[in-house]
Amino acid sequence: MEKLLDVENVSISFIQYVQGLNQRDLKVITDLTLDVSEGEILAILGSSGSGKSLLAHAIFGILPENANLNGKIKYKGKELSQEDKEELRGDEIALIPQSVNFLDPLMKISDQAIGKTESKEEKKEKKAKQREIFERYNLGPEVDDMYPFQLSGGMARRVLVSTALLSSPQLVVADEPTPGLDEKTVKETLNHFKQMKEDGVGVLLITHDIHAALEIADRIGIFYSGYVIEIAENKDFSGNGENLLHP
Ligand SMILES: Nc1ncnc2c1ncn2[C@@H]1O[C@H](COP(=O)(O)OP(=O)(O)O)[C@@H](O)[C@H]1O
Ligand SMILES: [Mg+2]
Repeated sequence: MEKLLDVENVSISFIQYVQGLNQRDLKVITDLTLDVSEGEILAILGSSGSGKSLLAHAIFGILPENANLNGKIKYKGKELSQEDKEELRGDEIALIPQSVNFLDPLMKISDQAIGKTESKEEKKEKKAKQREIFERYNLGPEVDDMYPFQLSGGMARRVLVSTALLSSPQLVVADEPTPGLDEKTVKETLNHFKQMKEDGVGVLLITHDIHAALEIADRIGIFYSGYVIEIAENKDFSGNGENLLHP
């Protein structure tokens, strides 16, 4: 299986101003290395505030202005510049954002899923594909004309997942896709990731839900205070962790 994503020695820090003009470099992620291949689910487990969303945003080139990014992020072996990230984003690589706030509150669901189109034909084509994928995720035609505030939590989650899949991405980064969902919706969401994997998509699943990670991931990385302390095969997390470096 071809390697899709390489994160090599990535560090992310923020410049903090303390007492007037004194600056301080606040490191959030230190020397992070990981990779994701086709048809693989890599879960990164970390507690709240450990830098999980920043990692996702670094891959997509949407870090906040005051963030410093060091290290390399590669896609299919090629180091990505900011322009490359913008080009790939929403095309070959897709982000399933942590928050439904990523949806535009003033735009109908179907319109924002389809995005900008060049021609009438293209719009028609994309609309048909959108309907087909939404249908697969149990989102009926009535959803198309809704605004984000009209969606339930589970529907919103399915909208984010199906919108990400519209461009037929090869790599999907999902930022905490399960919190706040009922058990049935969690199961459903995890099944969606299994399906993506079976379709050959590489998935980076960012989560603080160890059960979700154990259920679907091939490998699991533990993120602790900005360091990945270990990435191991799913099966090594069994028993008392005797196969782990840091049980
Ligand atoms: N724009 C910013 N300026 C300064 N610190 C930030 C900024 N954005 C995030 N942080 C800090 O980076 C840390 C990691 O944030 P985040 O990646 O959102 O964590 P999580 O693992 O919960 O997704 C947090 O402690 C947060 O305070
Ligand atoms: Mg987060």
